Amino acid sequence: MSAFGQLFRTKSLDDLLAETHEEGHQLKKVLGPWNLIALGIGAIIGAGIFATIGTAAAGDASRPGAGPALMVSFVLTAIVCGFSALCYAEFASMVPVAGSAYTYSYATLGELVAWIIGWDLMLEYAIGNVAVAISWANYFNTLLEGLGIHLPPWLVIDYHTAVTKMPHLVAAAPHLFGIPIVFNLVAFSIVAAITMVLVWGIRESASFNFYMVAIKLVVLSFFVFVSFKFVKPEHWHPFAPNGAPGIFTGAAIVFFAYIGFDAVSTTAEEARNPKRDMPIGIIGSLIICTIIYALIAAVFTGMIPYHALVKTLASEQAEPLTLAMKYVSMPVWMVGVVAFGSVVAHTAVLLVFQLGQPRIFFAMSRDGLLPPWFSKVHPRFKTPHVATIFTGVLVGVTAMFTSLDEMVDLTNIGTLFAFILVCIGIMILRVKDPDRERSFRVPGGAFLLPSLGVLSCLGLAIYLPPTSWMRFVGWLAVGLMVYMFYGYHHSRLRHAPAGGGTPGFNPEQQLPQSDLRDRKK
Ligand code: ALA
Repeated sequence: MSAFGQLFRTKSLDDLLAETHEEGHQLKKVLGPWNLIALGIGAIIGAGIFATIGTAAAGDASRPGAGPALMVSFVLTAIVCGFSALCYAEFASMVPVAGSAYTYSYATLGELVAWIIGWDLMLEYAIGNVAVAISWANYFNTLLEGLGIHLPPWLVIDYHTAVTKMPHLVAAAPHLFGIPIVFNLVAFSIVAAITMVLVWGIRESASFNFYMVAIKLVVLSFFVFVSFKFVKPEHWHPFAPNGAPGIFTGAAIVFFAYIGFDAVSTTAEEARNPKRDMPIGIIGSLIICTIIYALIAAVFTGMIPYHALVKTLASEQAEPLTLAMKYVSMPVWMVGVVAFGSVVAHTAVLLVFQLGQPRIFFAMSRDGLLPPWFSKVHPRFKTPHVATIFTGVLVGVTAMFTSLDEMVDLTNIGTLFAFILVCIGIMILRVKDPDRERSFRVPGGAFLLPSLGVLSCLGLAIYLPPTSWMRFVGWLAVGLMVYMFYGYHHSRLRHAPAGGGTPGFNPEQQLPQSDLRDRKK
């Protein structure tokens, strides 16, 4: 096969499925439908609802706010995500293999696109988690301060934000050889703790997630319940103070709040009955979260009128639910309960994303596109421990030095790109492999909803800032170089017989000797 042909060679779905049974690369199949829905809710509800709805409703100097029409923004974004969720559900039930969009692209669009999407998914999972870890640190610090505990401020913020926005903090920080010591140790610590739980085991991680999801649902219900009587319908007028532009801009911002339903698909290899349960987990968690979000948006905008919201500080808007509670003078303990729920909610998001990223590395390594140690499974815990620890270090260290806004924008654009490729993949596979068993099908035929998914994701991406687009392109360029230097040469598919492998294909006979040695260790 020509070098060019190799770039677009696809992997057969049967090979993908056969590889999940290989000795030494098997994950434990323990997750049922409720675990999967809980994993979805665990990944979805976090920094988005607890940190971005204030600014999405209020807007700022550079973009219009949605006002009370924030509810509509939430529903619009849910529809955009719904198209992709249906496509993810079809793929995950048909190809229950760890790796999510990366694996689906390998089967439909070829190796190069698969590599690009695998690399891109790092923006969603690893960089998304950097954002959540930073937001976690903010809330945790607020909670500690509410309890009268004060951490040194130079251990709860990144250097860049401190230098640009808080020169007094930098001046007061300790210095080493004239350099101020400022880094987000709190964000790093939570990532380190989560990493330990994840190495320990998938069942333990899922149970831990279950409790956290329960707590966050209870706390959000508590918020709605205690706040309901402060809702004044007159605050919903004018409903959309900035018209359609405000609503669409709000939708692009709250997109972050929905990211995560697709993370369910990364655990497909650990589901007991993926054909039935993957669609339940992905679509079920999205529907539940949409209802919760629309309700919270209605309560939030009904408690605090738009004209008062726009006068609050950006830092106050970053903790919108507690801001609204303070606005109507609720007791401090109630505010504390919601702040505590926010910390727990963030922790669950961290857990599921830290769970998803190593499984994508795992799948890429099993295909030879990343070094073999990424797909090692711990002999006792049966988790991809090396990839999990690598992810922990990557996310934890990045969270020490970067700022929240940059990471959120980068995550949004990377995720929208992944959604677009998954929608395209569904259309291709319906044409290429129409007879394959599909326990779940995107309704309305092969093209209607997937193409609406592509167009609507593009529509949202247009509302993201140009700097995010530039960073995104830069990130992909670095990824292409890594592929040219490593993945292209070590790809297992490249060393497989022409015409694609068969279910009996033994990759170990085809691998370069260096790879064989590594895999056997
Ligand atoms: N949806 C996740 C959150 O809001 C990423 O934190």
